[in-house]
Formats: sequence, structure tokens, C-alpha cells
Amino acid sequence: MDKRKIVIRRARPGDLRSIHRLYESYMFDSHLSKMGSEFVKCYLQAIIGSANCVTLVAEDSGVTGFIMGTCDHGEIKYRLLRNPKIMSEWFRKLLREPSIALKTLALIMYPFLSYVRGVKAELLYISIDPEYRGKKVATVLIDATLEAMRDKKVEDVKVSTLAKNLVVNELLKKRGFVKKRVFRLFGKDMILYTHKLR
Ligand SMILES: CC(C)(COP(=O)(O)OP(=O)(O)OC[C@H]1O[C@@H](n2cnc3c(N)ncnc32)[C@H](O)[C@@H]1OP(=O)(O)O)[C@@H](O)C(=O)NCCC(=O)NCCS
Repeated sequence: MDKRKIVIRRARPGDLRSIHRLYESYMFDSHLSKMGSEFVKCYLQAIIGSANCVTLVAEDSGVTGFIMGTCDHGEIKYRLLRNPKIMSEWFRKLLREPSIALKTLALIMYPFLSYVRGVKAELLYISIDPEYRGKKVATVLIDATLEAMRDKKVEDVKVSTLAKNLVVNELLKKRGFVKKRVFRLFGKDMILYTHKLR
């Protein structure tokens, strides 16, 4: 990564548009994207606004990548479920495409499927603009997020990703994440990783 040019910083509310673009354009096989653009935007906005979450962006002339993590996955899932904008988007989808809206309810099971005793912190999403890939931007974003979590006294962090997303699986192993188990979500294999921060 060209450290002279690319700046890593905390996301601000005004970054929502760029983060939303990176999510919608490049997130690998995302079920959330099927819920519609407004749903995803509300979801990302709630995470950016949460004091329990770490959202960082990589900035060159504009935002070229982002990462989201939470120090307390239970708190953020509860906050997302109670968000009136997210709920109204979900009901809107239920009326138009009930099968997709109902499938999304599988997310309620996610905390149980990805449960690891004593581990509350979790990496949520990462996406880098294609023209900035292969320059270690994701590596720097992950390391900076783990550092921010260490500062918040987090001891262990987990992450789950689609088994077929080979690039991100390689990236996580390189950053020291250790495979814990495989589980199924939305009919697909997910790999759960953990990482000791202390
Ligand atoms: C996955 C992603 C974030 C990687 O970003 P990146 O900035 O290109 O990654 P880095 O340059 O830091 O690469 C670090 C490591 O990842 C792995 N990696 C990166 N690109 C790879 C590729 N095309 N093929 C195989 N491994 C790759 C390698 O192990 C690499 O280490 P190395 O350079 O020493 O070989 C990026 O490809 C992306 O945004 N993908 C789409 C979004 C996504 O799938 N997000 C994950 C789901 S939440």
C-alpha cells in the first residue's frame, strides 16, 4: 500500500454514501443486497452510528475501501432489529417479495450459529474498490480495526465468511484468524474464524 497517499481513518456519517456504494457494488454474494438498497443503507448507517462498532475507511482522492467491526455483536444485532427504518424496509419487502423478506429472518439464528463462548467482538464487512485491490489496503484496514478493538480491551474477535469467497478466506488466515467451524446460512457454507488479540 502506498502509505503516502492512502489514509486510514474513522468513518464519519458523511461517508455513508461511499460505504453504501462499496457494499452494493462489491460485497461478495450478499443476501442483504437482495433486501434492496434502502434496507442496506439503513443497516450500514446504524453500524456507522454505533459507539460499539469500529468503522474505518481507506481514503485516497475519495473513499476506496471500508471495514466494519463490532465490539459487541449482540448489542448491534439487537439495535438493528429494533431500528424503525430497517423494520419498515423489511415490511415493505415482505409485501413485494415475501420469500426474500422471510429468508432474511434466518439472520435471527446467526448469533447462535456463530456462537463462540466469551467472544463478543466480530468483524462484519470489508470491501475495497477493485482498482485498489492487491495493494494491502484490506490488510491495513483489518490490522487497524484489531488495534482499535485492543484499545477497547477486546480479547478475542471472530468473523464468518462464505466458504466460497477464497480471497477473503486467504486474507483472514494471513491476518492470524484460525478456522473454528463450518455452519450453514442462507443455504450456503460459512466458515467461522477466531483470533486472539492478547
Ligand atoms: C477481499 C478483499 C477485501 C481483499 O482486499 P485487498 O486490499 O485486495 O487485500 P490485500 O491486498 O490486503 O491482500 C491480502 C491477502 O489477501 C489474499 N488475496 C488478496 N487478493 C487475492 C486474490 N486475488 N487471490 C487470492 N488471494 C488474494 C492474499 O493472501 C493477500 O496476501 P499477499 O498479497 O501477501 O498474497 C477485496 O478483494 C474485496 O473487496 N472483495 C470484495 C468484497 C468481499 O468479498 N468482502 C468480504 C466479504 S465481507
